[in-house]
Amino acid sequence: MINVKDLEKCLIIENDCFEVLKEIPDHSIDLILTDPPYNLAKYSTGNMHFDWRADRINDLQPWDLTALDPSELVSEFKRILSPRGNIFIFCSYNLIGEYHKAFDPVFDTFQFMVWHKTNPVPNFRKSSFLNSCELIVACWNKGHTWNFTSQNDMHNFIECGICMGSERIKDEQGKNLHATQKPLAILEKIVKIASDRSDVVLDCFNGVGSTGEAALKLGRKYIGIEIDKKFVEATKKRLEKYC
Ligand SMILES: C[S@@+](CC[C@H](N)C(=O)[O-])C[C@H]1O[C@@H](n2cnc3c(N)ncnc32)[C@H](O)[C@@H]1O
Repeated sequence: MINVKDLEKCLIIENDCFEVLKEIPDHSIDLILTDPPYNLAKYSTGNMHFDWRADRINDLQPWDLTALDPSELVSEFKRILSPRGNIFIFCSYNLIGEYHKAFDPVFDTFQFMVWHKTNPVPNFRKSSFLNSCELIVACWNKGHTWNFTSQNDMHNFIECGICMGSERIKDEQGKNLHATQKPLAILEKIVKIASDRSDVVLDCFNGVGSTGEAALKLGRKYIGIEIDKKFVEATKKRLEKYC
């Protein structure tokens, strides 16, 4: 079993989270804030070719190729979540129904947030809407921590650009290392609302450690699980200054 009780600041684990979750003690996690694969493979239109501009690269990422079934996460999430715990899960329209079916019967409340991206990819063909929204599932145990700010600030709607510029973690060639790195502004807002200082935050689909940075910056502890070695290494480097 992982010793969560004595965790000082952070622990980054390179492995399949479905294996590692079994090693996390009961009721030891205060906030699960995570961004699992979106099961996009069957919806992808692939790269787009144009006569009048450069191709739009729309490559599927390795994690899009394996289907993720939300019902496979629910029993471990329930077991490890503390009685004051909250869960936030980034999700796309194609999975919201499956998350509702799996999570709503097990947790006290099921809500969702809409993230409106202020700088979405343009719709070059002008033949449909821009994909400017993502969803975030929110659910919790009955005694959950909830740092309500104000009526105006607590709408289940958040506006924020996609992660850009110096916030993006780069590879050795200076290119963006992770295709779906999430912006700190959203993660920090959720961490503040749904946890207190010294609480333990878990992201079992860690990517390049964005949840970790938000959590540690705000004085929480962090456990990140990531299957891809290069993202684990980038996370360790990114979080070094906090740990
Ligand atoms: C959508 S990305 C998360 C990006 C992250 N929010 C960030 O800001 O960097 C999903 C991540 O989950 C990882 N992943 C996929 N399946 C996994 C598994 N079974 N166990 C652990 N990590 C996994 C992928 O390698 C990918 O980095």
